[in-house]
Amino acid sequence: MTITSKFISLKEYIPAGSPNLSHFSLNTKEINLEDSNDVLVKNVWISVDPYMRARMTERKNYLPPFDLNKPMLGAAIGNVQKSNSSNFSEGDIVLSENGWRDCFVEKDTKLKKIENINLPVQTYLGPLGMTGHTAYIGLFKIGELKENQTVLVSSAAGSVGSMVCQIAKNLGCTVIASTGSDEKVEWLKNQLGVDHAFNYKKIENLVLHLKSLAPDGYDLYFDNVGGDFLESAIFRMKNFGKIIICGRISQMSATSPGEGIKNMAHVLVKRLTIKGFLIFDHVNDRENFENDMNKWISNDKIKWKETVVQGIENAPQAFLDLLNGKNIGKMLVKI
Ligand SMILES: NC(=O)c1ccc[n+]([C@@H]2O[C@H](COP(=O)([O-])OP(=O)(O)OC[C@H]3O[C@@H](n4cnc5c(N)ncnc54)[C@H](OP(=O)(O)O)[C@@H]3O)[C@@H](O)[C@H]2O)c1
Repeated sequence: MTITSKFISLKEYIPAGSPNLSHFSLNTKEINLEDSNDVLVKNVWISVDPYMRARMTERKNYLPPFDLNKPMLGAAIGNVQKSNSSNFSEGDIVLSENGWRDCFVEKDTKLKKIENINLPVQTYLGPLGMTGHTAYIGLFKIGELKENQTVLVSSAAGSVGSMVCQIAKNLGCTVIASTGSDEKVEWLKNQLGVDHAFNYKKIENLVLHLKSLAPDGYDLYFDNVGGDFLESAIFRMKNFGKIIICGRISQMSATSPGEGIKNMAHVLVKRLTIKGFLIFDHVNDRENFENDMNKWISNDKIKWKETVVQGIENAPQAFLDLLNGKNIGKMLVKI
């Protein structure tokens, strides 16, 4: 049985600056089951994530650049249509790295079956997926979050940030959330219960604003954006505060390296810890995360939103929208 698969590929590398639709193309290829462990999967949900921007440059990173003119990669959830493998049957729900396409044939060892599902399957790309796991590991394992701390979160209405805010609230912390629109501010305050939320685009002096919201300073800053925001947060950390470097979205498409952090004296004098991490180093450390997240979800202690773009042909637009802040919560493509 031969099937035509539609996929998105990158046409050229983007060394700096913002990607646009002309960098991507929609293609087709014929696929069929060949080997005894081949499985045919129809994707239903595709994740687009900020880290993919780094794979669109030719520079070495923790993941290699995408191959030009080949199907791009990323997390996806789909249904098994046909299987030569005894480990998978028709109808199984599987997680793969074969996103950016509507269907594919893959070896069974590259697929992860999702079982005992009592939530919408796309939750395994959000709160119970990589982004929820990132929030959990970042806060507990990297940041050693304690009860009742004062926590600052940037990109707080995004997929990772919205989980960070709620996990910290579940520990009785005071949470100050920064985001890029008034609609997101409302959601953070009224639905997620953060203590203060603000639209960073409207703030003239961020250091003074951070001071007004938490005059005694911050114990922990969960940094999703880097750049000037990081420098401002350093000014307002408490002694022995912890900064978790999760992402640097404000710098991802930068056309120059910028000036760097000018207030390292605060890092020294306040004895701050600044620690980066990659969730890919923690893929086998999911048990506590899954237990806690499932418990919080059942007790209505975690809420989430999805921003859904329809159709594989619109996956590039979904990715551009993500970089431009059009998403609230997890950005997904529905096939
Ligand atoms: N370390 C890891 O292993 C790991 C794993 C997953 C994700 N991450 C990182 O975590 C961060 C959040 O990822 P996510 O998947 O949850 O994405 P997200 O926050 O759902 O979406 C990205 C958001 O970034 C914000 N943004 C865009 N440009 C910005 C700028 N110049 N300054 C400030 N904010 C900007 C936009 O929201 P606004 O409206 O608020 O501007 C946009 O909605 C990213 O930096 C990502 O790379 C790291």
